Amino acid sequence: MSLRLPSFAKVNLGLEVLGLRADGYHELRTIFQTTSLHDDVTLEITRTPGVTLRCDHPGVPQDGSNLAAQAALALAKHAGRRDGVAITIEKRIPVAGGLGGGSSNAATVLIGLDRLWKLGLGIDGLNPLARRIGADVPFFLYGGTALGLARGDEIYPLRRQVRGELVVVDPGRPVSTAAVFRRSDARLTPRENSNTIFRFVSRDLEADAGFAALSNDLERAALEEAPELRQAVVRIRGILVREGARLAVLSGSGSSYFGLFDDAWKARRAGLALRAEGFRVHRCRTLSLDQYRRALRMTGRLGGRRG
Ligand code: C5P
Repeated sequence: MSLRLPSFAKVNLGLEVLGLRADGYHELRTIFQTTSLHDDVTLEITRTPGVTLRCDHPGVPQDGSNLAAQAALALAKHAGRRDGVAITIEKRIPVAGGLGGGSSNAATVLIGLDRLWKLGLGIDGLNPLARRIGADVPFFLYGGTALGLARGDEIYPLRRQVRGELVVVDPGRPVSTAAVFRRSDARLTPRENSNTIFRFVSRDLEADAGFAALSNDLERAALEEAPELRQAVVRIRGILVREGARLAVLSGSGSSYFGLFDDAWKARRAGLALRAEGFRVHRCRTLSLDQYRRALRMTGRLGGRRG
């Protein structure tokens, strides 16, 4: 018995760090967006218990520290399974690039095993497991455009789904999320009017509203963590803006930087200009909630109200 599923990357259209929580995490307000850039995850049920993991990318841990392996183990334990699972990941999403690749792989494993094992847990049943594995994992049970609150693990899918062309630039320098959050602490002073995310959520996206106000509070900390990227970011941003991006920001804790475009032609030009300067570029699209659910062949009601 086996199943092959796409495992999509995310970008953060905006990210606000509101404060340090008692649990050591940071209180966030962010807008997550899934993209068509994806890995492929294959799950094979094995007769012997336990989890094995193979990945063609040298930067991905193949042991128990891999979030996808942790997800399989957690679900097997939760469901009291006596069989095991062999996971194979074909990697395309840049590793440690702020694109949620590891978290997405973990969520895809939860969704896939729920189906292969016929557990019927759905989003509601998988959510508590997802939250324990990592703060970014619950979002990937939903996909599309969603507001993330608390540690980024409290997910509210938005009625308005953002559509656009994406140019994702991977500067090829992995950045540690924990290190970037630690550096951001120095600037954790309460800000007036720090509600750009809510302004974005409440306005009409069709009229381009809100994008100009979005930014990523982790950008400065990420550049302090990886100062050698400073010049590259200035060049990347310059090209994205020059070619007409509605939004050009760092994704998550970096180091991937992306531009969101209305127009495929402009996005293509931006991608070509960046490649000509030697940058590694992934051209992709936003993936809406419906598109995400279709790609993962997810059925059932969103929010999982039963009965
Ligand atoms: O949850 P996850 O293990 O993916 O997060 C990685 C690290 O990022 C955490 O160990 C923590 O240091 C930091 N983090 C944070 N606040 C968040 C999310 C992540 O401080 N809301």
